[in-house]
Amino acid sequence: MMNRWVDSAVMPPATPPAIAPGTGAVLLEAKNLSRHYSVSRGFLKPKAIARALDGVSFILQAGRTLAVVGESGCGKSTLARQVTMIEAPTGGQLWMNGVDIAGADRAMLKKVRPLVQMVFQTPYASLNPRKKVGAMLEEPLVINTNLAAAERAERARAMMAKVGLRAEHYNRYPHMFSGGQRQRIAIARALMLSPKVIVADEPVSALDVSIQAQVLNLLMDLQEETGVAYLFISHNLTVVELIADDVLVMYLGKAVEHGDKAAIFARPLHPYTRALLASTPRIDPAQRQQKVMLPGELPSPLAPPPGCAFNTRCPHAVERCRIDVPLLAPFEGRLVACHRVAEIS
Ligand SMILES: Nc1ncnc2c1ncn2[C@@H]1O[C@H](COP(=O)(O)OP(=O)(O)O)[C@@H](O)[C@H]1O
Ligand SMILES: [Mg+2]
Repeated sequence: MMNRWVDSAVMPPATPPAIAPGTGAVLLEAKNLSRHYSVSRGFLKPKAIARALDGVSFILQAGRTLAVVGESGCGKSTLARQVTMIEAPTGGQLWMNGVDIAGADRAMLKKVRPLVQMVFQTPYASLNPRKKVGAMLEEPLVINTNLAAAERAERARAMMAKVGLRAEHYNRYPHMFSGGQRQRIAIARALMLSPKVIVADEPVSALDVSIQAQVLNLLMDLQEETGVAYLFISHNLTVVELIADDVLVMYLGKAVEHGDKAAIFARPLHPYTRALLASTPRIDPAQRQQKVMLPGELPSPLAPPPGCAFNTRCPHAVERCRIDVPLLAPFEGRLVACHRVAEIS
């Protein structure tokens, strides 16, 4: 397992990986995925380029959860918009179920698109306030299938039961539900077309802590049952430690550390990962580290510092870090982008 990450990053396969349905299949592969935005700086001034997402690579396998972590503004939601095909990347490649998205024609895209569904932080974004729960769950079936009304209703009711909603909720409007229940509705809706991947962007961040655990447990149960893979975006490492198999740590649009969750939580190697973890409350006292504070703010993606983007906040930065961009490279069974990783680990 460990080697997969290393191999996929260092020697990307020339052709999309073979997909065999079932466990372990690579559902999604991103290679050097980038999304740059052209930003106006005012009248007659040249446009600036915001490198919101700048060359991120990963694979996502059936039944697995890859957590994407990092401070607000590091490019997590931009990554989500590329993977869900809400936007087209400005660089790199994306394979969904063996299909190269950039090279796919309309008919192929129409087939592939339903395989990736999204769950947002606030279900308001995806729940139509004028539609009853039943109609909302059936909508994807109306658009994408030829199922008869009775069959659609049956599937909606079955899905409601699966996510812990009661039968009488079928005829209720979203405003009649609590935040946690609304997120259950959003999850149910995302699952209606049997997607292979769900991209969840901070799905529990808006919920009370007591409700968070229930929704996370639901997500984990659904994964066990259906084999769906999650790209789970969160700035909350306590939540990530619970749900993730693998972790991708992002800083200013780039991956700085990527690998097995347990390994990263036990021994974070990149100074940024260390700082993030140190500011997270840990349950196990043996895991509690000396508090490393993150000085300063995330630089603007319009003007990233030269060299390592983290050098302005890194306690270990030396001259080289201010000049050369560190590449993501294998180190102790994972990938780390730090010139000094061998010295400081
Ligand atoms: N449409 C856009 N135009 C210009 N800049 C953008 C756009 N969308 C996002 N950005 C910038 O890209 C960076 C990453 O944003 P985002 O992906 O929302 O981060 P996160 O989800 O990690 O908080 C931010 O600096 C943001 O201002
Ligand atoms: Mg975001």
